[in-house]
Amino acid sequence: MNQEKSCSFCGRIQSEVKKMFSSQSTHICNECVSMCSSILQKEVKYEQRTQMHEQLPKPEKIVSFLDKHIIGQENAKKVLAVALYNHYKRIENPVYNNVELEKSNILLLGPTGSGKTLLAKSLSKIMNVPFAVADATALTEAGYVGEDVESILSRLLAAANYDIELAQKGIIYIDEIDKIARKSESSTMGRDVSGEGVQQGLLKILEGAEVYVPLKGSRKNSTTETVLFNTTHVLFVCGGAFVGLVPDIHTKKGNKVGLGSVTKSQMKEHKVDQKALVHYGIIPELIGRIPVIAQLRELTKEQMVQILKEPDNALIKQFQALFEMDGIALKFEDKALEAIAEQAIEKGVGARGLRGIIEEVMLPLQFSCPSKENLESCTITQAAVKDSTKEPLFTYKQEKEA
Ligand SMILES: Nc1ncnc2c1ncn2[C@@H]1O[C@H](COP(=O)(O)OP(=O)(O)OP(=O)(O)O)[C@@H](O)[C@H]1O
Ligand SMILES: [Mg+2]
Repeated sequence: MNQEKSCSFCGRIQSEVKKMFSSQSTHICNECVSMCSSILQKEVKYEQRTQMHEQLPKPEKIVSFLDKHIIGQENAKKVLAVALYNHYKRIENPVYNNVELEKSNILLLGPTGSGKTLLAKSLSKIMNVPFAVADATALTEAGYVGEDVESILSRLLAAANYDIELAQKGIIYIDEIDKIARKSESSTMGRDVSGEGVQQGLLKILEGAEVYVPLKGSRKNSTTETVLFNTTHVLFVCGGAFVGLVPDIHTKKGNKVGLGSVTKSQMKEHKVDQKALVHYGIIPELIGRIPVIAQLRELTKEQMVQILKEPDNALIKQFQALFEMDGIALKFEDKALEAIAEQAIEKGVGARGLRGIIEEVMLPLQFSCPSKENLESCTITQAAVKDSTKEPLFTYKQEKEA
């Protein structure tokens, strides 16, 4: 009598297969086990993919995250949120319904200290991807003294802790792209190694190229191992002030001006288009690879005050925390914050100027307050900001009677 077990699924007998697993009267062969296992694996992969898609924050959520760190720039935030959302959707589905989705790198255009670098950095935080900043002015065409364009990729790789897969999905911010504008044709003698040459170099990596990048350290001529870096999925955000393309709304003194016949509302609508960028000296091929333009506006006094007090790590919150550690309540009069904002506008460096000004006001107090006995609170007044010889208001704890 043939006692050989047969697989309850495919019916093959033991001698036909490598292994048979049995439990009482049922049996399963190794081939059916591996088939089931591969079905299961495919399902897990599919679940992971759908999960990732669900995790991808929607544009509205991206904007509400940005709102926590960046004041104003509403339009730029929207443009960026959509671009970021599309970028990571495209990474998941480079081709969808036979439509090839093209990469949309971003150009941030706006005055100094208006939040360009901060915005780009915040984007990488939302997506939890590595981030690297490069300065276009430090770059030179390959083969010349200075950093070559590929060195930006080394920096991103380092930010990803040398995880190449992760680095290839990161974000690179290239600052001061306006400073590598092509010099006017009549003035260039020979090659333009720091202008057009660099733009040509950037073209390649912005579009998507494979570049050998050293795995550790970036010293040239050393025999370090290299890795092939594919830039297809790297999101490039370029930033520049493009002085002259967008009219300023402040004079050096912080007064709003009409700029001849340009009214404030006209300036609000002033949109920089690709033609204007070509005129500025950015080569058309490069502009073609940075199709998303987000324009940042010069910050107003009210926005500067908001920057001082509202973001999660706002400057005054930081000083208040430091004083609280010494048991002192630090307060700022609204007028004092306005005075700080006015001084920053006067410097013409945007919100970047706020820190220096507030540090200057706070330094003598940070020096003297910790040793003031029974100091309960310290209130910074407008007068104390405007005149360094004026003291803020102090209150002291009542000494308990014995
Ligand atoms: N809109 C903003 N909201 C909150 N903070 C801001 C904003 N803009 C600027 N800041 C503050 O000013 C600092 C400098 O801003 P940032 O580096 O983003 O300026 P930028 O636009 O990149 O200027 P630059 O053209 O000089 O590089 C930031 O670190 C941040 O503290
Ligand atoms: Mg910057």
